[in-house]
Amino acid sequence: MDCLVVNGGKPLSGSITVGGMKNAALPILFATILVEGKCVIENLPPISDVTTALEILQAMGAKIHMVNKTTIEIDTTVIRCGSAPYDLARNMRASYYVLGAELGRFRQASAACPGGCDFGVRPIDQHVKGFESLGAKVSVVSGYVRCDATESGLKAANIYMDVVTVGATINIMLAAVKAQGQTVIENAAKEPHVVDLANFLNACGANIVGAGTDIIKIKGVDALHGVTYAIIPDMIEAGTYMMAAAATGSRLTVSNVIPKHLESITAKLEEMGVGIEEHDESVTVIPHGRLGRVNVKTLPYPGFPTDMNPQMCVLLCLADGMSILTEGVWDGRFKYTEELIRMGASIKVDGRTAIVEGVETLRSAHVRAVDLRAGAAMVIAALTAPGETVISDIYHIERGYECIVEKLQSVGADIHRVTMADVGASANVS
Ligand code: EPU
Repeated sequence: MDCLVVNGGKPLSGSITVGGMKNAALPILFATILVEGKCVIENLPPISDVTTALEILQAMGAKIHMVNKTTIEIDTTVIRCGSAPYDLARNMRASYYVLGAELGRFRQASAACPGGCDFGVRPIDQHVKGFESLGAKVSVVSGYVRCDATESGLKAANIYMDVVTVGATINIMLAAVKAQGQTVIENAAKEPHVVDLANFLNACGANIVGAGTDIIKIKGVDALHGVTYAIIPDMIEAGTYMMAAAATGSRLTVSNVIPKHLESITAKLEEMGVGIEEHDESVTVIPHGRLGRVNVKTLPYPGFPTDMNPQMCVLLCLADGMSILTEGVWDGRFKYTEELIRMGASIKVDGRTAIVEGVETLRSAHVRAVDLRAGAAMVIAALTAPGETVISDIYHIERGYECIVEKLQSVGADIHRVTMADVGASANVS
């Protein structure tokens, strides 16, 4: 029942370093199932989703040694197919990568139907379509997804994705890496984390070309070997701190980033009148007075990321005039707007569109982190609002943001994690 207490209304200054990307780390960790040997994974973000992924892999038989906070050695020589613990897997969306990886290694797979943030219906029909195209029989029994290609083997296929999906693109890559022949995924997701996974698999001996474009070709290989591999920086963590700077009118440097991955975020901030200086591996946000209004539509990469929707909404709440924010990926991403309205925001949601009328300032309040990125948005809103804002349900935030309290404190934010039930009391503040 921990919460965050933020005394807002003060600018930030200095530099924040971004960690490894959650949505690259998770598929790469599960991809080690395909490697019968030892990998060293560096720049792993120390977040609870990574801990859960490691617990799942350990329960399946992987031997894991933490070299330091962000580096692990993982030996997947022995893995028991179908042994991902139900309760861990069902609570994390990315656990469905167990299916693709097990199918690739064992020609069969079994894992709990996946959970994750609640954005409305989150189907897996494209994953199923991909596995079936490769020759697997797929069924859902008692909350488990089961795949079986033990009789027919896995044979390469041409697969056209009906929607652009990160998860299905990744799962099909995992399943096809050791299939017989060349698999082609068309209308594939182009996200940097898809490319990072392909780079990891290729470093292990896979033969994948085209990742980062909408046609990915995967020539099956017999075996993958262990490697040492560093995860790319998290563009959503970077974007979140850029938005925190823009919202609080602060000059802030965000370092250990790949500026190219941030282009759509940078472009929108510039359109709102914020200065962005790009360096080789960092960006500096430079405030220029009140934010201007803009319209934003979230789209698959290289469009404006859906995982920046709530954080951007906070900026629109403070901009001069009316903005329209359209969600182009998920059906139910606007639940967090009720929390911003508690803070004095003026937002009307109609389906996948939010109409936001900018206000001068947000007010402090008790609010909830309704999901991971919504939680990050509450932190940004709280940093702007004079007075004390309390944010509950912060386990969502900890799934994806490494040391968010310490990082923000290091640039001058008055933010604390409170470890007691009663936020009014004054003890146990860390
Ligand atoms: N979709 C289908 N059928 C499928 C799969 C997806 O219709 O079989 C639809 C979804 O309903 C959605 C769209 O396709 O409308 C995109 O879904 P996608 O598969 O790309 O999402 P995901 O793989 O489940 C990942 C991230 C999300 C991020 C989305 C979109 C991970 C672990 N999760 O989810 O990240 O929002 O891609 O970029 O990589 C987050 O990090 O906070 C987060 C939610």
